[in-house]
Amino acid sequence: METFDADWLALREPVDHRSRAEPLLTLLGDAWRARGWSRVLDLGSGAGSNLRFLTPHLHAGQQWLLVDHDLDHVRALRSATVPASAQSVTVMRGDLAHEGLAAVARVDLVTASALLDLVSEGWLNRLVDACADARCGAYFALSYDGEIRWSGGESGDREQPDLDDAMVREAVNGHQKGDKDLGAALGPGAGTVAERLFRTAGYQTWQGPSPWQLSGADALLVGRLIDGWEAAAVEVAPSEVPRIRAWAARRRETVARGRFTLKVGHGDLLALPPERQ
Ligand SMILES: C[S@@+](CC[C@H](N)C(=O)[O-])C[C@H]1O[C@@H](n2cnc3c(N)ncnc32)[C@H](O)[C@@H]1O
Repeated sequence: METFDADWLALREPVDHRSRAEPLLTLLGDAWRARGWSRVLDLGSGAGSNLRFLTPHLHAGQQWLLVDHDLDHVRALRSATVPASAQSVTVMRGDLAHEGLAAVARVDLVTASALLDLVSEGWLNRLVDACADARCGAYFALSYDGEIRWSGGESGDREQPDLDDAMVREAVNGHQKGDKDLGAALGPGAGTVAERLFRTAGYQTWQGPSPWQLSGADALLVGRLIDGWEAAAVEVAPSEVPRIRAWAARRRETVARGRFTLKVGHGDLLALPPERQ
């Protein structure tokens, strides 16, 4: 089972919240109100970041169902304060392939954040079918899209790529396609595949960029990213270990100097079913 520790989720939460594609939130809020929706399912809810972000954007009276297989997250969520505009929050320990898919039939909106790149095309197909059967909307935020771009550094804003940025990015993006519990993951292609599947199912879709724009103020998060990218690249390209370790050491120096920007590409997707006649 892939685990996402609470420290990591806490570090990324403020960055996730400031990165979301605003236009999609307006469309979602309007659809939620116009269609009289109240029941929302958050898949892979982790520590509840998506719940905390979305509740103020949706009309009051929301009934939330959160599903995650991680017992520590589920316990923490069960003892957390219910956000003001949520009428109820139910937390279910379960697997996305079973309890998660089954719950779609009971809601108006399915949502998830930082999840789509972890899922397989087979699971996504089943999810889209379940959404179409239930005629519910879908909103997936912060799916990683494969872009990792460093700039700045010693000479100010001028772009200063490291010779091995591209090699590490390719290795990381390859690693993203490994099995993350639900079959071979879609990785950076997930947002595009999901948009196509929903459109084919008759949904109207919108996509918007939600990149992380990071700088020296995000040093802790960037440090964790470098650790994770180094480990992933070593797994995918064991013959390149010395190059990967040297890249990680140079990029840790970049972070220690503090004058850099780092863009990590993400995208959001909103998919709405045709309105009932
Ligand atoms: C990257 S974290 C995102 C958490 C949260 N949505 C957020 O934005 O902070 C992915 C979450 O999905 C959960 N998850 C991954 N695979 C799962 C599965 N097969 N069944 C249930 N939960 C799963 C993990 O436990 C984790 O909490």
